[in-house]
Amino acid sequence: MIKPNKLANNNFLSSLDLSTDEVFHILELANNFKNKKINIDLNNKVLGLIFDKSSTRTRVSFQVAMTRLGGTTIDLNPTTSQIKRGEPIKDTARVLSRYCDAIAIRTFDHSDLEEYAKWSTKPVINALTDLEHPCQALADFLTIQDEFHDFKDVILTFIGDGNNVANSLILCGALLGVEVRIASPKGYEPNSLVIKKAYEIYNNKDLLKITNDPIAAAKGANVLYTDVWSSMGEENHKEEKDKDFIGFTIDHNLVRNAEKDAIILHCLPAYRSKEITDEVFESKKNRIFDQAENRLHAQQALLSCLLN
Ligand code: CP
Ligand code: NVA
Repeated sequence: MIKPNKLANNNFLSSLDLSTDEVFHILELANNFKNKKINIDLNNKVLGLIFDKSSTRTRVSFQVAMTRLGGTTIDLNPTTSQIKRGEPIKDTARVLSRYCDAIAIRTFDHSDLEEYAKWSTKPVINALTDLEHPCQALADFLTIQDEFHDFKDVILTFIGDGNNVANSLILCGALLGVEVRIASPKGYEPNSLVIKKAYEIYNNKDLLKITNDPIAAAKGANVLYTDVWSSMGEENHKEEKDKDFIGFTIDHNLVRNAEKDAIILHCLPAYRSKEITDEVFESKKNRIFDQAENRLHAQQALLSCLLN
């Protein structure tokens, strides 16, 4: 097994905080956890959780992962701590570093996460920002690897908003050399800096395609992936986005363009009849709950690399 060096005692703010070897190492480790082939004891280490936005999967999978690793979590509810009263991030980060061995943060501005990381002396993990959701991407590629055994010739098509989830898929896909296609309505493409960085990583630039045509993007795809059209914090733009995203629903017609053995992924929570129809969501192609389970295994692997 390759020993991760970039990651030990470091931050995981972006998919790009990992090298290609480290992503493969985490996927291998995650599989070992999943198949109960290894046992790592973190010896009572403590992970602090700060969630400025709602969460089911990320919060619970971190809690269960730490429990299984012989550690524990502390949920620092921003509304009942001094965080919401405006205690500066730099003070909160320095205090929490004295109690916790790592901190996982879900917040809005990615720059706030970077501010935590700047002042924390312990590893900071991105549990989702407006820019990236790198823990999600690890679980996504674990699910794809479980299905297709390797990434050779796999085409991953994401249909929908060029959001945090899409950005992390692009970056992690670039590290793994996977063909990634993103189809979004005009004006909702992924972050341009993320696209630029991904093109710098890919050996073959043709492997990343950004388009406004969902049918073309779905043609020959092995994985069709979607996420909500309006992310947390975008509640005021919901009506406008619902109109702009007409034609970007993963429905039976769209699925027909993909490969016969194509699977459907969704990071959840899902809004049926918006980004995906109930028929497709409930179809045999659904690997969405394996994907949700894989959050646990991938994060257990990530935490072992950061904290062991
Ligand atoms: N996919 C995901 O991050 O889910 P939660 O918002 O429930 O954590
Ligand atoms: N893009 C979504 C992901 C939720 C897990 C959001 O940020 O709300």
